[in-house]
Amino acid sequence: MKLITAIVRPERVPEVKAALFRAGVTGITLTRVSGHGGEHEIIQRYRASTVVVEFHEKVKIEAAVSEPFVELTIQAVLASARTGDVGDGKIFVQPLERVIRIRTGESDNAALTPVTADEVQQAMLRASGGAEPGGEP
Ligand SMILES: Nc1ncnc2c1ncn2[C@@H]1O[C@H](COP(=O)(O)OP(=O)(O)OP(=O)(O)O)[C@@H](O)[C@H]1O
Ligand SMILES: [Mg+2]
Repeated sequence: MKLITAIVRPERVPEVKAALFRAGVTGITLTRVSGHGGEHEIIQRYRASTVVVEFHEKVKIEAAVSEPFVELTIQAVLASARTGDVGDGKIFVQPLERVIRIRTGESDNAALTPVTADEVQQAMLRASGGAEPGGEP
């Protein structure tokens, strides 16, 4: 399991959400954030120059996914968030130790399987040693 964190442009969020849902990634958290990605402006004033480190509005998208969905998730974000200009954002991938669904107490891959997961998704998760066949009632 991995926690995938993507920092993207706010105006790309509808496309990113759609791409993630198409990839079968349905559990996501969105947070508005303020970020700095290395760009700076140099303002000249009375022969002195000041470096201004600007923070820009971004959206942080977090998705905890089972292994079969890691590359799908990354590709979905790349395809939907990229404009080609500086500031398109970044994707961070971190190992995830435990996931627990509070309602049922299920753990790990079983807890990541959406209640509405279709048969293809269920099969991928079963192949990775994850969810129970048929999921939840
Ligand atoms: N190393 C980092 N650690 C944490 N957050 C980062 C890091 N780099 C970028 N971010 C976040 O991602 C946002 C967008 O970053 P940005 O796209 O400018 O990255 P970049 O590496 O400078 O790429 P580019 O060259 O395309 O601008 C930043 O505003 C910040 O919120
Ligand atoms: Mg940058």
